[in-house]
Amino acid sequence: TDPPKPTVTLQPSRTQIYSGETVTVRCEIQGGERAQWTYEWRRGQKNIHETSSEYRISRLTESHGGGYSCRATRSSSWTEWSDSTTLRVTVPSKPTVTLQPPWPQIYSGETVTVRCEIQGGEGAQWTYEWRPAKLNTPPTYSEYRITVTESDSGGYSCRGKRSFSRTEWSDALTVVSKPKAELRADRTAVPVGGSVTLTCSVSPSSSSSSSSSSGWKYYWYRDGKSYEALTNGQISVSEGGLYSCRGGRGEPVYYTEDSESVRIDTTVSNRPVVTLYPNWSEIYRGETITVRCEIHGGDTEWDYEWETNSTIKPPNQNEYRIRSASSSNSGNYRCKGRMKSSQHNTTEWSDSVTLTVSDSKSYLL
Ligand SMILES: *[C@@H]1O[C@H](CO)[C@@H](O)[C@H](O)[C@H]1NC(C)=O
Ligand SMILES: *[C@@H]1O[C@H](CO)[C@@H](O)[C@H](O)[C@H]1NC(C)=O
Ligand SMILES: *[C@@H]1O[C@H](CO)[C@@H](O)[C@H](O)[C@H]1NC(C)=O
Repeated sequence: TDPPKPTVTLQPSRTQIYSGETVTVRCEIQGGERAQWTYEWRRGQKNIHETSSEYRISRLTESHGGGYSCRATRSSSWTEWSDSTTLRVTVPSKPTVTLQPPWPQIYSGETVTVRCEIQGGEGAQWTYEWRPAKLNTPPTYSEYRITVTESDSGGYSCRGKRSFSRTEWSDALTVVSKPKAELRADRTAVPVGGSVTLTCSVSPSSSSSSSSSSGWKYYWYRDGKSYEALTNGQISVSEGGLYSCRGGRGEPVYYTEDSESVRIDTTVSNRPVVTLYPNWSEIYRGETITVRCEIHGGDTEWDYEWETNSTIKPPNQNEYRIRSASSSNSGNYRCKGRMKSSQHNTTEWSDSVTLTVSDSKSYLL
């Protein structure tokens, strides 16, 4: 009778064997008395210098991968070649450090959970090594809860280890210094009956992050008092006030620095008018003229603001008396009022009035 066909088995027999591990390749003949046989081995089409029924490969590399087959001989008769059994050597991929929750960025001072993930390494017993080394208080874990510090500016990275095999170091999750909130307003005054849109954003932020994945909640303040907390960075306001914002996220809540304050005024419907006394729009050097801001309606008391492109600026009063006009007083003048009792309520700007101070009368003669 023909000698039985041998089979090749691998020990361990699991499908995922990593580089650096040790494996035993064995040639088995059913019912055969092992001692009497001499063996011949092949990987693919290549013969291997090995004559025993089993052998160990320690510190596997990718080059050990392939289809193994064997046959055996005894008293000059050969068995058939076995079917080939494939040894797949998995080279563990570079791990990634992820955050829990999966924010794209971490800031110094924040408390977060960092996790080392080895793609394709699931199911294997890894041990982990971290940078900075201060995390590696044994036993080492795949996950740490850390408070991010600026001195870890090189970031956080990890690698996996099992038997003699090590993955590459992951890319570092870098630390960004404490972020600041930025506040933008689409305009600085609420129009009569309208609203202003304020936008709060955290800077620096990773460019790819959408507001939802970055995890920020936005805290709004009006005149120093809590105003609203929203998960989206935009609010629409119709009340005047001194607005600021900051971002917060995590547990315990980590806050960004406050934004600059932005003053939003409410526009009231009274509209000022600039008048000249006397009402000549062209006067001559040395003459006296008064530029006046008039606001009609009620007995409201106002503070006045002027805007002009003249060289000499008027003071913040309703009346600007020019005793001896010069060309430095020439320009366009407009004014607005701010309520004394309610500083965020202002009028619109008046129309501009042009004052032209001519150098001399002589050319008229
Ligand atoms: C000032 O503006 C607020 C809205 O910000 C409004 O409620 C209030 O009535 C205004 N005050 C006056 C005196 O018009
Ligand atoms: C000056 O005032 C007079 C009378 O109040 C008016 O008729 C005239 O149009 C005004 N002129 C200008 C330049 O405002
Ligand atoms: C002020 O601005 C007006 C309009 O822009 C211009 O015609 C005028 O020459 C300017 N006057 C001065 C003094 O700059």
